[in-house]
Amino acid sequence: EGSDKPPGNKWSFSGPFGKYDRGALQRGLKVYKEVCASCHGLSYIAFRNLAEAGGPGYSVAQAAAFASEYKVKDGPNDAGDMFERPGRPADYFPSPFPNEQAARAANGGAAPPDLSLITKARSYGRGFPWFIFDFFTQYQEQGPDYVSAVLQGFDDHVPEGVTIPEGSYYNKYFPGHAIKMPKPLSDGQVTYDDGSPTTVAQYAKDVTTFLMWTAEPHMEARKRLGFQVFVFLILFAGLMYFTKKKVWADSH
Ligand code: HEM
Repeated sequence: EGSDKPPGNKWSFSGPFGKYDRGALQRGLKVYKEVCASCHGLSYIAFRNLAEAGGPGYSVAQAAAFASEYKVKDGPNDAGDMFERPGRPADYFPSPFPNEQAARAANGGAAPPDLSLITKARSYGRGFPWFIFDFFTQYQEQGPDYVSAVLQGFDDHVPEGVTIPEGSYYNKYFPGHAIKMPKPLSDGQVTYDDGSPTTVAQYAKDVTTFLMWTAEPHMEARKRLGFQVFVFLILFAGLMYFTKKKVWADSH
């Protein structure tokens, strides 16, 4: 039982002014599409989201072109038949399996989880009363650190004392060390056209950044507004201070 603590990373999106690295989002989308999508859904994300502010930075036309590369089930039509058509911006990413049973059957009994919210779902925080201090620590990074670690945590060499059942794989960071996901990434597997290294470490970083965005697509707007609220409250406190002095000037 147990698992190793995921190493920390420098994420572009951490901290009160953090933003998503656009290049990482675009490369991460490519990794998701070419590697993860054969097993994992992304059912909360629509193609149109790819063109929204604070995301990968595609134009509406680019998002539409991306969508059209997918086949989407639709229907029934006037004849009562189901049919397939090219994807449109309003469609959501199609899921690889029709239902949970099919997903389990194809993966040795463990259904690959939908990845839309995985970076949040694997953020554990701390219990009462320590969660108070999570505000000041890198609580936000726990999920991404874990996801990126699991993707890099496969090892053919199983340490002594650990037994891995048939159909499972050793992973340093997965709880219990036996995961039913086969090692998904290897060096050179996905081509990049911006000169970024095509290594497992880079793929893991990019796809995790992308999955942080899918889980929190409005993070940049949230942080911007939060900062504006802070500035407003400081100015307003000053204003109230002088107002109070004036209103109470004669009453000592
Ligand atoms: C589980 C990510 C590719 C099959 C997971 C988990 C993550 C993940 C974060 C959850 C681990 C947990 O529960 O804590 C990814 C990413 C991929 C990828 C980012 C692409 C780079 C694949 C592929 C397959 C697959 C290609 C199928 C061949 C599974 C299965 C599980 C799983 C079966 C459940 C494992 C278990 O509960 O034992 N994946 N995955 N994944 N993945 Fe993947």
